[in-house]
Amino acid sequence: MTIEHYVRALPKAELHLHIEGTLEPELLFEIGRRNKVKLRYPGVAELKRAYEFSDLQSFLDIYYEGAAVLLKDRDFHDLAWAYLSRAKMDGVRHAEIFFDPQTHTSRNVPVEAIVEGLSAAMKRAQRELHVSARLILCFLRHLDEDEAFETLRRSRRYWEFFEAVGLDSSENGHPPKKFERVFAMARSEGLKAVAHAGEEGPPEYVREALDLLKVSRVDHGVRSAEDPELLERLARERIPLTVCPLSNVKLRVFSDLRDHNLGELLRRGLCVTVNSDDPAYFGGYVLENFLAARTALGLSARDMAQLARNSIEASFLPEADKSRLYAEIAALPAPE
Ligand code: HPA
Ligand code: ZN
Repeated sequence: MTIEHYVRALPKAELHLHIEGTLEPELLFEIGRRNKVKLRYPGVAELKRAYEFSDLQSFLDIYYEGAAVLLKDRDFHDLAWAYLSRAKMDGVRHAEIFFDPQTHTSRNVPVEAIVEGLSAAMKRAQRELHVSARLILCFLRHLDEDEAFETLRRSRRYWEFFEAVGLDSSENGHPPKKFERVFAMARSEGLKAVAHAGEEGPPEYVREALDLLKVSRVDHGVRSAEDPELLERLARERIPLTVCPLSNVKLRVFSDLRDHNLGELLRRGLCVTVNSDDPAYFGGYVLENFLAARTALGLSARDMAQLARNSIEASFLPEADKSRLYAEIAALPAPE
């Protein structure tokens, strides 16, 4: 078995994936055409040429623009179905998917259309692909907390589909503490919590996410490496980091994949996982993230298995499902 076959065959959970970030240019134009949404770019080639980013904000500007073609149940279904079918080919067995309701409700798209469409694709994926999926409702952190409360209230009838709340968008200047009350409300209603922190923001934001938002895992979190005490705590408490190697290079968190700290975090015993973030924009789905990180950082087949195990451990799957997937990983013969 080649290493590529092995990494593909390892059962994996994808835990850091924005569904709006899986909108491939071809599907973007197809949905734009059928919804008669005018785009600034004449075609796929011109749009792809615009995918050159200097930081998080330069990406977010284009990402929100692309999401503007999504209007109806069917659009959200097609988007999620395309992602789940693609993820299946990479050996993803379970996905915990971020979605940004405010990106759509601000254009008068009802929460119903978003969640009905996404959940229809998720049910179909369970039936036809044997891939399970749950949703994580993310608040846009560049907006204020009142709007986050309003978003949570408006989606109440769909809470059965939600595993957790999350926090994304422009990090610097929008610390986790801005959302302490709305996270407390979500947790009091039985939802778990995750948050982007330590992507562009300082280690202090990671501490706030843990202490004030009481997150079960940290999305990105790579800047935690600047704070040895924090790093020790993450290792000791086995708080997972959902790391996105190709994203971090595209958004210039690291200038080269060979400089990425994934390998170091793994060696220090942190529960790091590998994920694709916004694969339509960053040039790779989860398998490509595993393989690119392996090559650039000289990771072994055992490291690949550890990363797969970590993804199962860090997921919100029931313990019985986790045990079954660990056993599958252990039974897979490793190359080398
Ligand atoms: N960071 C913050 N917000 C986002 C990201 C990200 O990597 N992707 C989509 N929204
Ligand atoms: Zn992200």
